[in-house]
Amino acid sequence: MEGAHVVIVGSGNLSHALVTRWMTSPHIAGLQVLARSERYRVKGWSQAAMRVVTEDDQCLKDTDIVVLAVKPKDAVQALQHVAQVSPGVRVLLSVAAGVTIAQIRTILPASGIVRTMPNICSQVGRSVTGVAFDGVNSLDRQIVLELLHELGQTTETPESLLDPMTALFGSGPAYVLVFLRSIVDTAIKFGMEPDVARQLALQMVLGTSELALSESHDSLEHIVSRVVSPGGTTEAMLDVLQSKGWQNIMESALSAAAERAIQLGALAPLSGRA
Ligand SMILES: NC(=O)c1ccc[n+]([C@@H]2O[C@H](COP(=O)([O-])OP(=O)(O)OC[C@H]3O[C@@H](n4cnc5c(N)ncnc54)[C@H](OP(=O)(O)O)[C@@H]3O)[C@@H](O)[C@H]2O)c1
Repeated sequence: MEGAHVVIVGSGNLSHALVTRWMTSPHIAGLQVLARSERYRVKGWSQAAMRVVTEDDQCLKDTDIVVLAVKPKDAVQALQHVAQVSPGVRVLLSVAAGVTIAQIRTILPASGIVRTMPNICSQVGRSVTGVAFDGVNSLDRQIVLELLHELGQTTETPESLLDPMTALFGSGPAYVLVFLRSIVDTAIKFGMEPDVARQLALQMVLGTSELALSESHDSLEHIVSRVVSPGGTTEAMLDVLQSKGWQNIMESALSAAAERAIQLGALAPLSGRA
C-alpha cells in the first residue's frame, strides 16, 4: 500500500519530535499538524517542521490516521473536535499519558484505537515505545507499527502496562538527563570546561548502553561488578549512593510518575478509566 495520510493534533514538544522523524518517512504520503495557536513558533520548532502546521481543521477529513498529541486535560475537547469533523476516522493513535482506550472509545466508537507512549528520543529514532491496539484491522496495525518503528524500538504490550511504562520510559529521558546534569555540574566544580564535561558525560552514557547491549546475556549487576575494584573509586561512589538510599529514591520517583500517569488520565473527564 502507498503511504498513509497522517494528521497530528497538537503542536507541542512531542508533536515536534514525531514530525521531525516522520517528515521523511517512506510510509507517510501526507503529514500535517493541526495547531490551535501559533505558540509552536516560540517552542523551538524547526523551519521544516513548521511547514506542515495548519490551523485548518479540514485536514482531519479523509485522513487515515489521527495522532492525539495534546495534554490529557485537553484530550476530550480535541477528540470531540476530531469526531465532529471526521466522525469515521479510521485510526486514532493517542500518545496522551493516562488516557485509556475505553475513554477514547466513548467519543470514537467505530474507529481503530491505538494507545502508545513514545518518548522524546523519537526525534532521533531512539525511542522505546509501548503500544496497545483495540479494534484495529491487520493492515492498519501493520502501518502503525511501521510508523512507530521509525521512532525507535517498539513493543506491543497489554494496555495495563502503559501507565508504568509511561513512568519508566516516557519520562525516562528526563531521569537520564538529570543524572547527566549532576555529573556535568560536578565536573565543572572540579574545574572542567562545561562543553568538554558535557561531551564526555554524554559519550559515557552512550558507551555504557552500548556495552550493556553487546553483553545482554550478562546481568547488569555483573557488568557493574566489573567496574568496581575493592577499595577503588567506583566502590567509594557506590557506597555513598547506597548509604543515601539510591534504590529507594529511584523506586519512589518511578512510582510517583506511574501514579501521576493514572491521575492525568482521570483528569480527562471521560468514563472508561478503571
Ligand atoms: N513530551 C514528552 O516527552 C512526551 C512523551 C510521551 C508522551 N507525551 C504525551 O504527549 C502529549 C503532549 O505532550 P507535550 O509534551 O507535547 O505537551 P505540550 O508541549 O504542552 O503540547 C501540547 C499541545 O497540544 C495543543 N493542543 C491542546 N488542545 C488542542 C486542540 N484541541 N487542538 C489542537 N491542539 C491542541 C497545545 O496547543 P497550544 O500550543 O496552543 O497550547 C500544544 O501545542 C501529552 O499527553 C503527553 O502525555 C509527551
